[in-house]
Amino acid sequence: MNEFYFPSGVQSFPLDIPKIAVDDVDLWRSIYTEKKGPIEKTAINHNGFSGAWVGLDIYHGPNYSTSKDIYTANYYDCSKIFPNMFKTIFENIPMDINCIRVATSIKPFIPHTDFSIPVVSLRTILHEQNEVPTFFYVNNKGEKIYQTLPHSTNTWIYNDSTMLHGSDKLPNKSKVLFMYYGVPNFKKIRELADKSVVRYKQYIVPVI
Ligand SMILES: [Fe+2]
Repeated sequence: MNEFYFPSGVQSFPLDIPKIAVDDVDLWRSIYTEKKGPIEKTAINHNGFSGAWVGLDIYHGPNYSTSKDIYTANYYDCSKIFPNMFKTIFENIPMDINCIRVATSIKPFIPHTDFSIPVVSLRTILHEQNEVPTFFYVNNKGEKIYQTLPHSTNTWIYNDSTMLHGSDKLPNKSKVLFMYYGVPNFKKIRELADKSVVRYKQYIVPVI
């Protein structure tokens, strides 16, 4: 059974997994600079807006299907180029991954949900120029609550259905975000959640 699981009362928390980092930063920068392009929405969904990203798909799994993906991005398979990073990802991201999409936002993202059904979302910040957190949730008073991360992990998980999320875009600052798509492994998510919410208690964003 792979029944949906997310800790109750929790919106978002850092995952207690090793840091995800490219094997060779210079090589990564040259690939990302050369290969990335606009990420475009090809269908309208419940949230009715288009993303404002550039980016690159760096992995498509055997079950990836363009017909199920409402965004299109350039694709350049990096799984053989950065074997250590992909080993860390495959061993630790609690998901049977169909697609890893790397994205850099070029405009702010207004508060939204990405899905119309309960879904958990996994994100890794690969590179961050912002000195303040920019990824936020909106509480029941309409205030932004930012997800901050400890030094020991750059990955977090959130429940898409409980609070709206969005992202600020600060002038002349950018970030490089990994977004994972696939089939979440809720047994692993439960195990990771149990230890992550203890270790990273002060970083938990509650549902309020
Ligand atoms: Fe989103």
